[in-house]
Amino acid sequence: MTELKKFAVIGSPIDHSLSPKIHSIFAKELGIEITYEAINVEPQHFDSSVTRLFEEGYAGLNVTLPLKELAFKLADELSDDSNLSGSVNTLWKEEGIIYGDSTDGKGLIRDLQEKKINLKNKEIVILGAGGSAKAIIPSLLKEDPQRISIGNRTISKAEELLESFSSFRDRMNLFQMTDNLNFKPEILINSTSAGIKNQSLELPEDILTKDMCIYDLSYSFEDTPFLKLAKSKGIENYHDGIGMLIHQAALSFKIWTGQVPNSSISKDELL
Ligand code: ATR
Repeated sequence: MTELKKFAVIGSPIDHSLSPKIHSIFAKELGIEITYEAINVEPQHFDSSVTRLFEEGYAGLNVTLPLKELAFKLADELSDDSNLSGSVNTLWKEEGIIYGDSTDGKGLIRDLQEKKINLKNKEIVILGAGGSAKAIIPSLLKEDPQRISIGNRTISKAEELLESFSSFRDRMNLFQMTDNLNFKPEILINSTSAGIKNQSLELPEDILTKDMCIYDLSYSFEDTPFLKLAKSKGIENYHDGIGMLIHQAALSFKIWTGQVPNSSISKDELL
């Protein structure tokens, strides 16, 4: 008889996490028995909670906002993606060693590939300079784009972010969110939390053009505010982050179980 494996996602807030549903679908399809819970953990209790959960026999943990940097600091062994992004969303423990990986960037790339969006030699813009932007930049750089420009409301945060990728400085650029652009982005990725917080997002006037591709890391059952804006400008190639969410989960699942789940889950099954 195979042993029931316990997993959880930890973060705060965590109530609306779709990870338990996604992982349960993966496990059911593969015929693996698991439990997967969403557990609220505040930053000040992060280290003690992780220690306790591993002691209680959890085989793997997903880590979400605002704990990804704390997980990066806590892990004993880090993957290349985690080292480059300063972020961990997947933890597991083997023979007393806590391992950390970041599957967000790879999850995004897989979703883009599935959508036939090629990044090679493309002029990419990322809006926002927080943890979500940082987590995806290493994977985007690996796809060999022409350039990645970071646009942010607080320019010092964009500068700080660029500092952490100083060895790629010749392929990166930054701009103030409200400045007019002197170049034409081909792929625009929204990593800001403006939409989730129901706040407006001030953009450079000339940034949205009909033939560009838009990817919003956020998702909701209906179009996100950012995608609504893109549609209103006649943009047809637009996507939300649900595909990335599913792919990053599939990559975590594979790390923990060695099995590759079927990632073709529809939004209707989840939201
Ligand atoms: P995350 O880890 O999800 O990236 P974060 O680190 O808080 O969250 O970063 C949120 C990003 O969204 C930041 O770049 C933030 O801009 P500032 O650095 O200027 O704060 C951006 N953001 C959030 N709300 C915004 C708004 N209403 N308009 C423009 N940018 C916004």
